[in-house]
Amino acid sequence: MAVEGRLKFSLFSEPTPAAPCVFVLFGATGDLAARKIAPALYHLAAEGYIGENAYVLGVARRPRSDEQWRGEMRAAIEEHGRSPGVDEAVWNAFAPRWGYHVTHAFEPAEYESLARRLEEIDEQHGTGGSRIYYFATTPDTWVDVARNLARVGLCKPKGPQGFVRLIVEKPYGSDLASARGLDRGLRESFEEDQIYRIDHYLGKETVQNLLVFRFANSVFEPLLNRQFISNVQITTAETVGMEGRRGPYYESTGALRDMVQNHMMQLMALIAMEPPSELQAWSIRDEKVKLLRSIRPLTPDEVPQASVRGQYLGDDEGPAYRQEEGVEAESGVETYAAVRLMVDNWRWAGVPFYLRTGKRLAGKTSQVIIEFRQEPVDLFQELGCDLGGRNLLSLRISPSEGVTLVMDAKVPGARMMVRPVRMNFNYRTAFESSSPEAYERLILDALLGDPTLFIRSDEVEASWRIVDSIRKAWEVNGEPPLQFYRPGTWGPEQAEALFDDPYKHWHNLDPRSAES
Ligand code: BG6
Repeated sequence: MAVEGRLKFSLFSEPTPAAPCVFVLFGATGDLAARKIAPALYHLAAEGYIGENAYVLGVARRPRSDEQWRGEMRAAIEEHGRSPGVDEAVWNAFAPRWGYHVTHAFEPAEYESLARRLEEIDEQHGTGGSRIYYFATTPDTWVDVARNLARVGLCKPKGPQGFVRLIVEKPYGSDLASARGLDRGLRESFEEDQIYRIDHYLGKETVQNLLVFRFANSVFEPLLNRQFISNVQITTAETVGMEGRRGPYYESTGALRDMVQNHMMQLMALIAMEPPSELQAWSIRDEKVKLLRSIRPLTPDEVPQASVRGQYLGDDEGPAYRQEEGVEAESGVETYAAVRLMVDNWRWAGVPFYLRTGKRLAGKTSQVIIEFRQEPVDLFQELGCDLGGRNLLSLRISPSEGVTLVMDAKVPGARMMVRPVRMNFNYRTAFESSSPEAYERLILDALLGDPTLFIRSDEVEASWRIVDSIRKAWEVNGEPPLQFYRPGTWGPEQAEALFDDPYKHWHNLDPRSAES
């Protein structure tokens, strides 16, 4: 599908370098810093979004010199960046503004030295006293680090133009109570509008496109309601397992907390919310919260019929979950979760939303499939036609980013035969340019002070309310039992039983066949 006419608006227009500041990266020697954050900062600099008065200060407990850390980050950018190699000119200009400072999270005295280092950087690099703190560390350190920063006066902006912002990663708590505790703790030191909670799905171009798709086109939106939609299916499937390193993390989370509470709830909110009154952070977030609060929490009696949990077995390509490093031999943690949720509002009452996610499944795909209701009268059945199925609208987040409409068409020939065909819009062929990585977009927005694509605390709470209702029933009643599934499949067969009618089923549209 070709791109028609001129751009209506652009969210990622001409580069304007972000205001001067120090980007203080806690957890600077960790996995996230190397895989995502350093490459994102480098690409932002390459695109002209990071000005000369910005400095990156890595903070962690391991001893490193500035030189050593810069070298590690350069290697990380080479390995994980989205373009091959490192542009010497970009890196040579940026690298002198990368430094490292040893600080132990729980040692208040060390924050005085950190404060002095930040002042020196302000003097030498004109960073103006503004800061972005990025907590790329485990949540158990956050409240203490925030308190220690506050104690030495590092949480308040300097002057009217100055700013201090805090970016935090998921998991944001492990249930509603702990998320609230985290909020209370962080808000001793930071105001809510200083806190930027990351959900990297919101940084994906195609997730932002959900808003454009719905509210910049008039053709689909009138159909997205109980009158025309039979059900909505949201899938985030991965082929990887624990990748040799994620076992311990997964043991403390599981698929429901790792994927459903955040990414999938956000996808559901964006696909089902009402139109915002403006394209402003508060307005979009208000609508998302309203939708999340309209999702009916499951009662303990409903959970066995409305949810499925699974765990992958082993095969030639990898161990069973229970044999992964750092995983208990008898672990009951789910690597697959599927749920049926209902939304109690006027638009969606009676339309089930099916969410499923899992590791080591048949394909890597994140997509939303909207299934339309059957046509009221089936004219073609009288002719003995085998109708292909219902109309589907597939919104592919990744891979093969794009939109596909599945509809029935007549097969050419003398006989009346009907077959489903696809109408595709594919990002790559339509725009011919590569998308920025999610972390680039989100870090840039934090630098610019735009919280639209970050999660507000009431959104976090509303999502936990739903997830807690499922998890508690799993834990207390042990129902439904954990199902084991073979790697390379779409998960436990029991997930088909979530559908309330035998003609409905999960759609496993192969994203590769949507290439065009
Ligand atoms: C992360 C989860 O948030 O998202 C991971 O912790 C998961 O378990 C990842 O693999 C999936 O992200 P993406 O962008 O590859 O779909």
